[in-house]
Amino acid sequence: MQTDLYCVMGNPVEHSKSPWIHARFAELTGQSLHYDKRLIPLDGFEAAVRAFIVEGGRGCNITVPFKFEAAALATRTSERALLAQASNTLRFDKGSIFADNTDGAGLVNDIQRNAGMALTGRRLLLIGAGGAAAGVLGPLIDARPASISVANRTLAKASDLVTRHAALALLQKTELLASDLQGLEGSFDVIINATASSLSGAAVPVAASTLKPGALAYDMMYGPAAQGFMTWAREHGAVARDGLGMLVEQAAEAFLIWRGVLPPSQQVLAELRATLG
Ligand code: ATR
Repeated sequence: MQTDLYCVMGNPVEHSKSPWIHARFAELTGQSLHYDKRLIPLDGFEAAVRAFIVEGGRGCNITVPFKFEAAALATRTSERALLAQASNTLRFDKGSIFADNTDGAGLVNDIQRNAGMALTGRRLLLIGAGGAAAGVLGPLIDARPASISVANRTLAKASDLVTRHAALALLQKTELLASDLQGLEGSFDVIINATASSLSGAAVPVAASTLKPGALAYDMMYGPAAQGFMTWAREHGAVARDGLGMLVEQAAEAFLIWRGVLPPSQQVLAELRATLG
């Protein structure tokens, strides 16, 4: 039987856990596939995708900095990738490229299923308005929280993101607000850090008063990059969670798109946590 080819394309991509995650999904579901990682030159994304299709590739995950290019390359795009204007999952169908974005579903599934916090009716704070925030806002609205405040250092970017999602928010009866980091008012049940601030070692960009007692404080990063935010959250009485579960859950959604089978993501998340110590 022919083995189907998949990969993750990015730059950098060396530390990607996706090959390990998809290999475990394939083993546990009895699917025959090969998944590797490919370092793509910054000016070579489209050529790499076309070459992979010729090689027999069936689909790929896309990571930094190619998610926007991936969405633009597609011949067919899911609603959620259209809203995000970015894609982390491509599927190559006969003569066409389908682009989806599973990052938001990964985040929502990790919060609701794995962390056990239902989002419906809650007050959410999304910090950041770059690519990472854009990828998750639509699915967060679809979970029907009472409100989502998008707070960003540059207010105009938060406002743009909110404007783009206004129709969906109206449909789901979620109040959607844009703010800068200083103008934030009130406290929240869930706060999600989608900024790159921790990468540069900068302080957590919001005040501790944004945390309701027992709030869930979620950093979309994992490993050392998430530690500063998580320590800050715990020091202020919140429940802290890193983005490792989001990573596994977005992969599970991609696996479903490619293979039509939902893998046992909770088991694989527990194994990955144990591997990483
Ligand atoms: P990504 O794809 O990871 O989201 P990005 O699109 O460059 O990367 O977005 C980075 C996000 O982190 C932005 O929301 C950025 O704020 P600005 O829009 O004002 O640039 C935010 N960010 C980066 N460094 C930050 C810092 N030190 N404090 C607060 N926000 C920061």
